[in-house]
Amino acid sequence: MSNEHRGAARAATTHAAAPRSHDRPPARPAAPGAWRERLDFLRGFLAHPQQVGSVIPSSRALEQRLVRRARLEDARCVVELGPGTGGTTRALLRALAPQAQLLAIELGSDFAARLRATIGDPRLIVETGSAEDIGAYLAAHRLPAPAAIVSGIPFSTMPPALADRIAAAVAAALAPGGRFVAYQVRAAVAGYATPHLGAPQAEWEWINIPPVRVFTWTRTA
Ligand SMILES: C[S@@+](CC[C@H](N)C(=O)[O-])C[C@H]1O[C@@H](n2cnc3c(N)ncnc32)[C@H](O)[C@@H]1O
Repeated sequence: MSNEHRGAARAATTHAAAPRSHDRPPARPAAPGAWRERLDFLRGFLAHPQQVGSVIPSSRALEQRLVRRARLEDARCVVELGPGTGGTTRALLRALAPQAQLLAIELGSDFAARLRATIGDPRLIVETGSAEDIGAYLAAHRLPAPAAIVSGIPFSTMPPALADRIAAAVAAALAPGGRFVAYQVRAAVAGYATPHLGAPQAEWEWINIPPVRVFTWTRTA
């Protein structure tokens, strides 16, 4: 990441000191409305179908499954790859401790701007950029190795070399014992992450449009 990029990213970042426990901000923002959110998501898909990979945001059932698999209770730092319009982001924030931080990396500049405008939570840092730069973003914000990385990015539609670099960056960034939770319709992500992190736990979330696979890896060393 260039200095110029880093400076611009910092300027556009939502970041402040962690709140005290008694004045924790509401994790659920002043919601612009579920239908508005779905419409913005659909617009993002129509503009960049391969990048977004889905026409509708994740269901509540999927959000809850991701939160359970990521085991966020004691996490100090968590990373989300591909937050989109932020439904999954808000679910992660609701489960995170008051002093924790969530770094959200989103390739789509419209989605990233929407996240900054709609989620007023000082634990959230939004970066416009690619998941492959996860290490540079963590270093730029002086964040510790994440206890969990949650990903909704479509590994099946991106160039294989990029998918491979992202999987390697995720494995390198995770804290020992940390968890990588990735949800996908297809199993492409498993082919990229397994060489770095070993065999995943795999399951389906049926209450989602469309049903998706959820893969969970734990970094052992
Ligand atoms: C299927 S959507 C998931 C959105 C949201 N997390 C949800 O579950 O409703 C995938 C998101 O990943 C983003 N994305 C795709 N490639 C990316 C990359 N290399 N780095 C960061 N974000 C990426 C897309 O712009 C999109 O917002």
